[in-house]
Amino acid sequence: MCAKKSADPIIDEIRTLRAQLEQANYRYYVEDAPSIPDVEYDRLLRRLQELEAEHPEQVTPDSPTQRVGAPPAEGFPEVQHAVAMLSLDNAFDEQEVRAFARRVAERLETDEQGIRFCCEPKLDGLAVSLVYENGLLVQGATRGDGRTGEGITANLRTLKSIPLKLRGDHLPALLEVRGEVYMSHSGFEKLNDEARARGSKVFANPRNAAAGSLRQLDPGIAAARPLEFCAYQVARIDEAWLRPSHSALMQQLREFGFRASPEIDVVTGADGLVDFCESMGKRREQLDYDIDGAVLKVDDLRAQRELGFVSRAPRWAMAFKFPAQEQTTVIRDVTFQVGRTGRLTPVARLEPVQVAGVTVSNATLHNMDEIKRLDARINDTVIIRRAGDVIPQIVSVVLDARPEDTRAIEMPEQCPVCDSRVERLGDEVDARCSGGLFCPAQRKEALKHFASRRALDIDGLGTKLIDALVEREWVKTPADLFRLEAVKLAELPRMAQKSADNLVASLERSRHTTLARFIYALGITEVGEATANALVLHFGELQRIMDASRASLEAVADIGPIVAGHIHNFFAEAHNRETIEDLIRVGVDWEEVEVGEREQPLTGQTWVLTGTLETLTRDEAKARLVALGAKVSGSVSKKTHAVVAGEAAGSKLEKARQLGVEVMDEQALLALLNQHESAPSSENAS
Ligand code: IVH
Repeated sequence: MCAKKSADPIIDEIRTLRAQLEQANYRYYVEDAPSIPDVEYDRLLRRLQELEAEHPEQVTPDSPTQRVGAPPAEGFPEVQHAVAMLSLDNAFDEQEVRAFARRVAERLETDEQGIRFCCEPKLDGLAVSLVYENGLLVQGATRGDGRTGEGITANLRTLKSIPLKLRGDHLPALLEVRGEVYMSHSGFEKLNDEARARGSKVFANPRNAAAGSLRQLDPGIAAARPLEFCAYQVARIDEAWLRPSHSALMQQLREFGFRASPEIDVVTGADGLVDFCESMGKRREQLDYDIDGAVLKVDDLRAQRELGFVSRAPRWAMAFKFPAQEQTTVIRDVTFQVGRTGRLTPVARLEPVQVAGVTVSNATLHNMDEIKRLDARINDTVIIRRAGDVIPQIVSVVLDARPEDTRAIEMPEQCPVCDSRVERLGDEVDARCSGGLFCPAQRKEALKHFASRRALDIDGLGTKLIDALVEREWVKTPADLFRLEAVKLAELPRMAQKSADNLVASLERSRHTTLARFIYALGITEVGEATANALVLHFGELQRIMDASRASLEAVADIGPIVAGHIHNFFAEAHNRETIEDLIRVGVDWEEVEVGEREQPLTGQTWVLTGTLETLTRDEAKARLVALGAKVSGSVSKKTHAVVAGEAAGSKLEKARQLGVEVMDEQALLALLNQHESAPSSENAS
């Protein structure tokens, strides 16, 4: 990390920052051993961006700030591959793997047992080629037809696992590296969850998601997608840099700053190959990315040259393919599962089918939008896919095989668990059971929320205890909590009489609360502390909130039609009214409140929260800002007052910088909150 010294301290700082950022990338992507926390990485990057903005003449194309560039004006240019990007022959079983080893041995006229093979996982993504001149990335391209690909340099530059500049002082004049761009399971799930929450299209699998991301002309899109690169071949390198074996070249690539698979192993003979394929098959389930087999390569480069190529594939390599992960089957029925938070998820009940050695009889359909997108009906024939730990997915419907007797899949009007009404508001993607506190499927979660610190704050009533109380059916509704007796509680395992007494005492304390806490504790969808406070300030008493029309709810500051709908539906549900009456019956009460909004210290300001905060949840931060009068928005614009950037803050932070909006970190936010919250004028009326 020793950046060269110059006379100018600014230039020195810029060099040091770049070296620190490159080192952090190396530790993260190549060594799989992160060296600095993400917040620190962001801080260094931010500082470098600041310095470069002040000294634009110091910006270099390989600076870590230069990953997201402008889209290519004329679309993707054609790129001729200097060395063709070939494909591999496939082996599907042990016999074919052994036959490969035998063929190699015969051609090399050597003993099969002595041949060294470099074995690697076969990543299921997209092949790309990267050209480096004098250590700098100058071109990135897709495989295309193997001879001509598309120049997607701007998109590939956004991947942090692709070095913009090779590591080391002494570098080859020319290097062409090939490898796979892919998306991890966790990155894919997160991307699709976000797409679902926005109501936009989801990707069928990580491979499609990676391919779709690289096809976009705007590199900002690729930058926002969790894409990774893993190197697996050197296509061109200066003679002096050649190594005797493929595995040694892979090690050299690591030294240049590339990620090569940590699963790579050098084995000998056919037995070594078979063992590797078997063990890779077992390890596959634990990997956080899709692999569809193993690639087996003769390790010695001279032997590779001797073996040469046949038509479009090398004789020195072979792909061992795992059994297919996709199968066709029939949707026999669709049932709806109620999640802990009341969300209804359609689950396809399938004609049981074997997929990669496992019997699959259910697949998630996610939500009604997904069903519409797939155009799926009961009795349809579908292609399902099971990859690693990912829950089996329905990839597509085989429309040609659609029988006459299909039935539409419909969302039930009543919750299948508690019979409360099912609600789906506006263009929300999810449908929910409105029986919140009453629904057994939501009972544990609802009680945990009810007892939590910012709700009724029942000291001593933790997650494990709630689980035990619900499982014994001692507590079905929140009101049952206040009926618990110390003698009974003491019967629970590991519950001493003293703890039981303490819990009853804290229940007694929590019985007397504030109306805002009470409303928040009810767990109405999308009603956090800030909205609960706003409702109380506006209406003053519970009965008026319970009886409010949608229109009058919408008149409350910060409540839009969707949240108004959730509140209205919640109180329209008879089960919920009964639960509230029961709570009042067991003695839950609060003091009268004074109505009317006040001018708050942050009134008129719009704030945006991005990234992960360390000491606050996003909801807490939002609630505290809103309690001080601020509006908290999901997107950054010129009107944004400030952006609070936590760990791994992404595009919103970028945008704030571009627009010159104030950015603050968590410490600064906490200081500001504490300052205003301690001032008497910011006290809530509740
Ligand atoms: S070597 C000439 N190694 O598999 C040999 N390929 O079917 C070049 N792939 O297009 C390929 N993981 O996209 C090689 N460890 C690996 C690989 C790998 C995945 C893909 C690659 C290629 C396809 C060939």
